[in-house]
Amino acid sequence: MMKAAVMGYGTIGSGVAEILEKNKAVIEKAAGQEIGLKYVLDLREFPGSPVEDKIIHDFSVIEQDPEVQIVVEAMGGLNPAYPFVKACLLAGKHVATSNKALVAAYGTELLEIARNHKVNFFFEASVGGGIPIIRPISTCLTGEKIEEITGILNGTTNFILTKMDKEGWSFDAALKEAQNLGYAEQNPEADVEGHDTCRKIAILTAMAAGMEVNYEEIYTEGITQISDTDFQYAEKIGMSVKLVGSSKCRDDKTVSAYVLPLMISREHPLYMVSDVYNGILVKGNMLGTTMYYGSGAGKLPTASAVVADIIEAAKHSDENVAMGWSSQKQKIAPMEKNEFHYFIRISGQPNEMLPKLAEFGPGEVISIGRPDEFAVISKKMSEAEFKKVAAGIEGIIKTIRAER
Ligand code: HSE
Repeated sequence: MMKAAVMGYGTIGSGVAEILEKNKAVIEKAAGQEIGLKYVLDLREFPGSPVEDKIIHDFSVIEQDPEVQIVVEAMGGLNPAYPFVKACLLAGKHVATSNKALVAAYGTELLEIARNHKVNFFFEASVGGGIPIIRPISTCLTGEKIEEITGILNGTTNFILTKMDKEGWSFDAALKEAQNLGYAEQNPEADVEGHDTCRKIAILTAMAAGMEVNYEEIYTEGITQISDTDFQYAEKIGMSVKLVGSSKCRDDKTVSAYVLPLMISREHPLYMVSDVYNGILVKGNMLGTTMYYGSGAGKLPTASAVVADIIEAAKHSDENVAMGWSSQKQKIAPMEKNEFHYFIRISGQPNEMLPKLAEFGPGEVISIGRPDEFAVISKKMSEAEFKKVAAGIEGIIKTIRAER
């Protein structure tokens, strides 16, 4: 029997405890041994809960118990998650985490410690909730040069945008509902400002490149500026707006990576990814495009991915499984060099304004019947070029990058 400890009895931690109990027999068969939950570390008490007798408040109990071989970190945030996880790895314990902030900020160091101590630092649940994506990249796509990863990686914002798009909800009402359903982070800023997606695309890019990615170098824009009017325009031309995280190889050394609301057409593979679901498109140079789709957030889907990591650790209890990335740095291209089409809302009348918009290309006028504004979609331009032209034009209400 392998003993496990869970740190943090919140949404994910309680889901892990529940799955370990409910799927006991399946898990034992897959892991080749029984997995017994010994401790649950939390500041709170949980009287009447199934783990009532396992609750502890002192981390050193886990750290110093040689019987505990695998530790689940489901506390979120960096402190005390980082020192606790580091201490567990240094003590020769495997760690499975759902914490993308931790993996994006300290993954390089924690992977290195795990390698040196012949244990594993696994983080399948940190990206895409229950969708298998980390292990497919590290095991199934190893013969590929991964040219592009583009994903809807945040369930909360996808839920919000879907409600705004399909049901005309306000941003605030949709956010509240997402929080009630347990999708949103405690601080919704991490979701709506794109920080959560930024960390996830940084992790995926590092996995694909085998090199460290500094998430702070990834241009990140959230969805707080997207309005119902934007969706009316998008619908008029058969498009929708999705928050995407994307990284694309530019050459052998550099990748373009960004997080932003993108207007996409019905033909785009990510168009159909709605509600809390995530979709991740991975393009390999031989394989072509593959799509990974499923529940990107929520208690049991995310906990299921953590449990898979526990099983993987149990199967490799005496060795480090080669995965992750080195400390070599992946170069990220400046945002100014990336190219998009731009959806542009402009105040005024088309006959008066169109001559002034000539440098955006021959844009077709898009109207939703508002007397005081219209929209166009520009030709493909670099960010630098677009900014230069846009700075010289008065009356631009809003721009959203678009892919046609
Ligand atoms: N808040 C995150 C989301 C949770 O909505 O996708 C899963 O990482």
